[in-house]
Amino acid sequence: MADHHGGQSGSTEAGTAVEVTTPRTVSPGTAVVRTDDIPNPGHPPHRPRVTDLDPKKDRAAERTVSLLFFASLVGSVLAVVFYFLFPIIPGDLASVRLSTLSLGLAISLGLLGIGIGAVHWAKALMSDAEISEDRHPTRGSEATRAKAVDVFTLGNKESGFGRRSLLRNTLIGALVVSPIPAVVLFRDLAPAEEPGELLRHTLWEKGKRLTRDPSGTPIKASDVTYGSAFHVIPEGLNDAEHRLEEKAKAAVLLMRLRPEDLNEKEDRKSWSYDGIVAYSKICTHVGCPVALYEQQTHNLLCPCHQSQFDVSNHAAVIFGPASRPLPQLPIAIDDEGYLVAQSDFTEPVGPSFWEREL
Ligand code: FES
Repeated sequence: MADHHGGQSGSTEAGTAVEVTTPRTVSPGTAVVRTDDIPNPGHPPHRPRVTDLDPKKDRAAERTVSLLFFASLVGSVLAVVFYFLFPIIPGDLASVRLSTLSLGLAISLGLLGIGIGAVHWAKALMSDAEISEDRHPTRGSEATRAKAVDVFTLGNKESGFGRRSLLRNTLIGALVVSPIPAVVLFRDLAPAEEPGELLRHTLWEKGKRLTRDPSGTPIKASDVTYGSAFHVIPEGLNDAEHRLEEKAKAAVLLMRLRPEDLNEKEDRKSWSYDGIVAYSKICTHVGCPVALYEQQTHNLLCPCHQSQFDVSNHAAVIFGPASRPLPQLPIAIDDEGYLVAQSDFTEPVGPSFWEREL
């Protein structure tokens, strides 16, 4: 009978087991034990390299590797020399370029020399004969395992860990609680003030004048002509302790539209003055400054990801990834005709943050 497993047999008797490697006829009732059909081919024959055969080539390769290591040494020394030779002079762009270029070249030489030299050494000079190493079982011997159990048992007995439950439980409690001081100390790395509160308030407050960015000169309502846009900061911002952080929240864009172009909600009619409106300059997407005003369409454009806001319609998002309108700053004029804020923004400016409800 033909063997469907592709094996072969010698002479067989019913009820016996045979090893088969090639097709042959097997008697019914014979158990077929297959051997591995693909023998281990072993390693390919070793092909000697030129450096193995010719001592001159061997010495040449050695010199090449040494030369590369020496080049690396020179590169590293040059990097230190260039650091002092070409210092960066604040405000001088040419010195930055020269320092960066010279340091980059010298450090590259230092690292490449070592890297290429090591590879060449390994390829040309180190032994390239392949060897196989059999893996050893990771499981310890029975004797080793029994010894380990003995050690644990003895440790448990001598320390009384299992027997003295009060000691054991208080030790576990102490270990569990011991990281708590670290958690408390790490808390010091967080901002001193609650971050949500920091993001919720800006320098704007009732009566604070709107001033030009960056000069800080106050703006009169009569200065704002139709179609114009002003970049605005709160009065006194330039003297604030954290000027840049405050500016990043309080920056405002001021525009004047013809009153008939403004589509104001009833409860916000008092937030503008004679067609002059002020909106946060901080994009509600991820916080870029919304700096481009298109006076024909009354659209504000954020250059980062092209969100567009319709100023005539409460800075509603009309395009792009921003999800909320720009917050509006309620404004009025003071006795001298200067534009002033009526209050802070009524909602947090900028992108979402974790405690934001809006
Ligand atoms: S930050 Fe303005 S669109 Fe992304």
